[in-house]
Amino acid sequence: MPLPNTRRSIVASLVLVLLDCYWEAASAQLSYSVSEEVNPGTNVGNIAKDLNLSVQDLESRLFQIVASKRKYFEVNLKTGFLYVNERIDREELCTDELKCTVSVEAVINNPLKLYRVEIEIRDVNDHSPSFNTKSQILDIAENTLPGFRFALSEASDADVGKNGVSAYKLSPNEYFSLATQKRGESVSPEIVLQKALDREKKPNIQLLLTAVDGGSPPNTGTSEIEIDVLDNNDNAPLFSNSLYKVKALENIPVGTAIFTLNATDADEGSNSEIVYSLRSKDQDYILDIFKIDPETGIISVKGKIDYEERKAFEIRAEARDKGQPPLSAHSKVLVEVIDLNDNAPEITVTSLLNTVNEDADVGTAIALVSVRDRDSGKNGEVKCEILNTVPFKLETNYKNYYSLVVDGHLDRELTPQYNVTVLATDEGSPPLSNISVITVYVSDVNDNAPYFPESVINVSVKENSKIGTVIKTVTAVDADISNNGQVSYSFLDVNGKSLPLPTLININSETGDIISLQSFNYEELKTFQFRVQATDSGVPPLSSNMTVNVFILDENDNSPAVLAPYSEHGSVNSESIPYSAEAGYFVAKIRAVDADSGYNALLTYHLS
Ligand SMILES: *[C@@H]1O[C@H](CO)[C@@H](O)[C@H](O)[C@H]1NC(C)=O
Ligand SMILES: *[C@@H]1O[C@H](CO)[C@@H](O)[C@H](O)[C@H]1NC(C)=O
Ligand SMILES: *[C@@H]1O[C@H](CO)[C@@H](O)[C@H](O)[C@H]1NC(C)=O
Ligand SMILES: *[C@@H]1O[C@H](CO)[C@@H](O)[C@H](O)[C@H]1NC(C)=O
Ligand SMILES: *[C@@H]1O[C@H](CO)[C@@H](O)[C@H](O)[C@H]1NC(C)=O
Ligand SMILES: *[C@@H]1O[C@H](CO)[C@@H](O)[C@H](O)[C@H]1NC(C)=O
Repeated sequence: MPLPNTRRSIVASLVLVLLDCYWEAASAQLSYSVSEEVNPGTNVGNIAKDLNLSVQDLESRLFQIVASKRKYFEVNLKTGFLYVNERIDREELCTDELKCTVSVEAVINNPLKLYRVEIEIRDVNDHSPSFNTKSQILDIAENTLPGFRFALSEASDADVGKNGVSAYKLSPNEYFSLATQKRGESVSPEIVLQKALDREKKPNIQLLLTAVDGGSPPNTGTSEIEIDVLDNNDNAPLFSNSLYKVKALENIPVGTAIFTLNATDADEGSNSEIVYSLRSKDQDYILDIFKIDPETGIISVKGKIDYEERKAFEIRAEARDKGQPPLSAHSKVLVEVIDLNDNAPEITVTSLLNTVNEDADVGTAIALVSVRDRDSGKNGEVKCEILNTVPFKLETNYKNYYSLVVDGHLDRELTPQYNVTVLATDEGSPPLSNISVITVYVSDVNDNAPYFPESVINVSVKENSKIGTVIKTVTAVDADISNNGQVSYSFLDVNGKSLPLPTLININSETGDIISLQSFNYEELKTFQFRVQATDSGVPPLSSNMTVNVFILDENDNSPAVLAPYSEHGSVNSESIPYSAEAGYFVAKIRAVDADSGYNALLTYHLS
């Protein structure tokens, strides 16, 4: 007959109180083992049989299992089997104790007996290893030497014993291998660097660490390992080329950018920040003409680029990173200067003759003209021509050399001086030109004879004039100059037919004054004629002549002379007339003569 529940529990309580005191007396002890997590109802062992109790008595003798906390186990009074009453989680019960046991007491009455039953809870591999964090981050400098070890955080596993973490595995990779350190029970993982890192090739590396427990089948847990490779200044800046070629027009304005240097540095941060500079060794003039922006690498013009001075520049540049210590690289920029037509031709004249004779032949060379243009190519090709109309021309024998030659008739008396305007023009675009004026002086040749304005002149001279009177001045002009134009006068045919000229007149050879050597007497000589010659002093001299007619003018220098009636007694003449003569009676005829002529000889008569 079953006992009411209340009564059973009172007995159990009593048993528990007495338990310690009577423990020694309770000699029997049983051990069982059962896996954790088995289903409730699973038999652990036939406790009735093991305690030598008859199954029939169990109920009547109030056999029961007494537990201090949770009632994991119960007994089947019909069969005598101890079975699992409640799901058992070993990890909850014993955490990480290696041996986990649950102790219960079995009590039976009539007579009262206590049995201690120990049930070992066997671990089941029901937990996987796990890591605190899903991923671990490691910063490793790229210059770390192979062999260096880095500890990783361990995985934990709630299971114990061989079900705990027993090994680690690392995902295959070229840089790291796995090593483990055993510290007592636990195994801690490490990675060992196998091969030098290179941030520039692989800045970060992902690994997967797997923890494996020893269960069967084993459980695993994973953690990502992220390795950030830290930069070292192990890369110098790099130019894409060691030589760059650019072209620049000459006279390009200051400040114009002509090229951008670009160096790259595989490092990062300040290790890859680049400072550009121009190197000045042996080429200070480069620094006067070019500059570089230290940050952007832009090379720009700072001074004057003159093709005529320098046709090319070799700029040496340096790129230096800001790492510690810094690394640097060098490159060259070859600047080819392009010519502009910025120079006008220059004309140089070398005189061959100070003056050119007016009778110079066509083709006579007067001067050498050379032209030069500092530009090159078309910009330096020059054509030369004479601008004004002159009897000269340019002849060329070879490029840029000309001779100025006579190309027509020269006449000093017409044009004593020529300004020859030479124009030199280059073939640039737009063309530039220059002008030079060559002054050509024409020198005199005795090609003009003295010239009398009249070929014949009439000159009148009074008779009785004073000796030495200038009766006439003759003048001949000569278009030539100096000796060629200096005229002297003389008489031609001095010892002419009839008259001894030298007794009559003389001529001043320099002035052309004709001077009387006589006081002429009209009554003796009425007229005479001579020729004057003018001669210049050229070599050979030239001359011309003119005729001078001299007319002596009468003066009233003779008194009339009475010819009749002629009286032998002087002036007193007597005429006898008859007394009876009447008025109108012819007395005498008076005749008189006068040696003079014209009016001077025109006589009038009257009674005095
Ligand atoms: C169980 O009982 C039998 C007979 O009743 C006896 O022979 C045996 O020794 C007992 N065993 C124990 C463990 O007491
Ligand atoms: C320099 O060169 C690099 C690589 O060629 C390029 O990415 C960058 O834009 C260039 N920098 C300049 C300023 O041209
Ligand atoms: C013309 O040529 C002369 C020398 O022959 C030179 O000095 C001058 O500068 C030139 N003129 C120009 C405009 O270039
Ligand atoms: C030539 O040039 C000079 C100087 O300019 C001037 O005095 C002279 O009159 C000019 N001669 C001619 C023939 O034009
Ligand atoms: C000079 O006198 C002569 C003679 O009287 C005359 O025939 C001639 O025309 C005169 N000539 C001049 C230029 O007067
Ligand atoms: C004088 O001049 C005339 C022409 O004017 C010339 O024919 C003649 O030959 C000259 N006489 C002399 C002697 O020069």
